[in-house]
Amino acid sequence: MKIVARVLLAGVVLLALLQCVRPGIPTKTAATEIQAPSAVRKIIEKDCYSCHSDEKRLAWFDQIVPAYWLVRHDILRARQHLNFTALGSKPVAAQRSALFEAVNMIQLGAMPLPQFIALHPDARVTPEELATLKTYLAPWGQPAAPAGASAMKADTPATVSLASVPPELNGLPFESDFENWKPISVTDRGDNNTFRFILGNDIAVNAAASGNISPWPDGARLAKIAWQQELGEDALVHPGKFVQVEFMVRDAQRYKDTDGWGWGRWRGIDLKPYGGDAHFVKECTGCHRPVRGDDYVYTLPISAAKNSRAEVVNNNAAGLPTSLPYQPLAWSAITLYVDPATRTIAVLYGNDVAIRAVRSRSESSTYPAGSVLALVTWAQREDPHWFGARIPDNPRAVEFVQVAAAGSLGSYRRFAEESLLEEASVDGGKRMEFIRSLAPAQLP
Ligand code: HEC
Ligand code: HEC
Repeated sequence: MKIVARVLLAGVVLLALLQCVRPGIPTKTAATEIQAPSAVRKIIEKDCYSCHSDEKRLAWFDQIVPAYWLVRHDILRARQHLNFTALGSKPVAAQRSALFEAVNMIQLGAMPLPQFIALHPDARVTPEELATLKTYLAPWGQPAAPAGASAMKADTPATVSLASVPPELNGLPFESDFENWKPISVTDRGDNNTFRFILGNDIAVNAAASGNISPWPDGARLAKIAWQQELGEDALVHPGKFVQVEFMVRDAQRYKDTDGWGWGRWRGIDLKPYGGDAHFVKECTGCHRPVRGDDYVYTLPISAAKNSRAEVVNNNAAGLPTSLPYQPLAWSAITLYVDPATRTIAVLYGNDVAIRAVRSRSESSTYPAGSVLALVTWAQREDPHWFGARIPDNPRAVEFVQVAAAGSLGSYRRFAEESLLEEASVDGGKRMEFIRSLAPAQLP
């Protein structure tokens, strides 16, 4: 009994002494707080400022060592990623994109840290609060810039040789053949007015087609190409300036320190490796970690493959019937556009002959005989993984243009309505001219 009492006493004394081991948490008065309406700021202050601000807002029980040490560690890490009391000095667009990321981290259940909510239940973001944040952000509220407003025309066309692009700062090599990979999905990002094609190499495409993507097999490579959106004179939104290409390369062993994937981003038409040093990877893994349940991949590949988690990992709704004369989803893509009036997204695909002509980048790119073009139009729906993005929903129409002789317009077939049945005797002259006039999206 005596021994137990002694040990207990020693424990209490030790704990009391440890209270003095208290490395500081620097604080500042907030000079450049994020600029947002007070309703929005209140939510962030209540739920996020404990960690993501220069203020110190600790509950009494957070002050007790060893809890204090853990909280301090979280706060210092959190500020490195995001500091709402310093965000106000950043450009408006950067503040906006930080808020979009914040909303998505909340929606994905990643923030506030679950272990923090367990002890501070009132820091949980309520559905009403989340709705307030979303209403304020209003994606697609700012229309795309009109064509010509961006510097696209002034851009010197591709002078970089894809074979000599330097590796990323973490050593990940550039994938010089990514343009030949096949699209597995496409997103319309209303949070930053960009379009993205998500492409896969053969291993990735086959894995998506068979539903074998949790986890993705070693050797799978994913690319994401981003373009700025441009409002055309035809009232459609087209891809404008090329922004960047990013890669995720799956190799569970080799990249075990970065969640089984190698990460890289090359920016601008001259494909400059992104980041100041190899630590840029933390940005990638940090933002992809909330979807670790889907092997860190946000995209829902368009695939007919069903599995038990079909709507989580596959976009079945957007698949096309096998009864069509061609399967354009197995082809490469040339460009895309969104029709804001009908809320549809359309992707222009080409068979090998057409793609070769497009990739040759000759000025007078007319499609040679044997080319087949397919314009697939989908309804759009909200991306369940990312607030501010839209992905393809059910297909609305598939149009084919078959070029028999180089000079001629070609022949036209259209499949539409619920079951994508062929429409009889359509005069496709106007549509063929339109489809053939769509300029290929800019690539390095
Ligand atoms: C208990 C401390 C704590 C609270 C409260 C908290 N966070 Fe965090 N947050 C962190 C830490 C720690 C990280 C860095 C995570 C890492 O290193 O992987 C982080 C990272 C982030 C990131 C960057 C994610 C990334 O790595 O790309 C965002 C965005 C974020 N938090 C948003 C929020 C929002 C919004 C709230 C309030 C609703 C919030 N956080 C509340 C601790 C916190
Ligand atoms: C702020 C969050 C965020 C950060 C940071 C981020 N990503 Fe992503 N990433 C996304 C989202 C959301 C998608 C889904 C596609 C889309 O709509 O853009 C995505 C998709 C991708 C894809 C296509 C496969 C997939 O997961 O869907 C690749 C490849 C990719 N990201 C690479 C990177 C690389 C490399 C970095 C770091 C240099 C990075 N990402 C940083 C949010 C992020």
